[in-house]
Amino acid sequence: MSQDRRLIEDFLPIREISAEASREKSIRKGHISTLHLWWARRPLVASRAAVFGALVPAPKDDAERKALAQEVIDLCRWKVSDDAIARARQRILDANGGQPPKVLDMFAGGGSIPLEALRLGCEAYALDLNPVAHLIELCTLVYPQQYGPDLAKDVEKWGRWVLERVKAEIGDLYPPIPDRRRRPALSRKASN
Ligand SMILES: C[S@@+](CC[C@H](N)C(=O)[O-])C[C@H]1O[C@@H](n2cnc3c(N)ncnc32)[C@H](O)[C@@H]1O
Repeated sequence: MSQDRRLIEDFLPIREISAEASREKSIRKGHISTLHLWWARRPLVASRAAVFGALVPAPKDDAERKALAQEVIDLCRWKVSDDAIARARQRILDANGGQPPKVLDMFAGGGSIPLEALRLGCEAYALDLNPVAHLIELCTLVYPQQYGPDLAKDVEKWGRWVLERVKAEIGDLYPPIPDRRRRPALSRKASN
């Protein structure tokens, strides 16, 4: 039997990871799920735990297991600290002869697993048969690295450009939907 036993085969703090993954579902800003809806997207913290757990060795004893469990709990938070990420990256490098491992997700969908592999310092590869998933993966994994922070300004600029042109050409066919947030609340008397 192979001696190459990994953390994921030994132990992961599932209860804590699940609680954090549930909280992640209600994040409305800064999460890749707000970029484009992808039904099967896995929570980022769970994907991070899976990638980390698959790349570092299993603990040798209970003391090491306890320490690693706390490290994984700290690592698998939505608001993860830079220290926790740096420690995890180092552990992965140490387990891989000092080289970033290559991680391939052949069914990458919304890209959670390759995104977390990138965050953990790996060389990530993503594939998907579905062209929508492929486009989401490009926008999540490739373009931000290729174009940097200016990408956000370009998306804003060209998004407005498209919107103005569409409004000019077919805007009269689609009356604007009133913004619910600006509608005055009905008083109790008026709504009865
Ligand atoms: C369960 S989803 C993956 C979800 C992904 N882990 C995430 O977090 O978003 C499975 C994906 O496999 C893709 N798929 C199915 N058959 C495939 C094939 N033969 N080659 C490549 N991708 C395939 C589907 O298009 C789908 O996006």
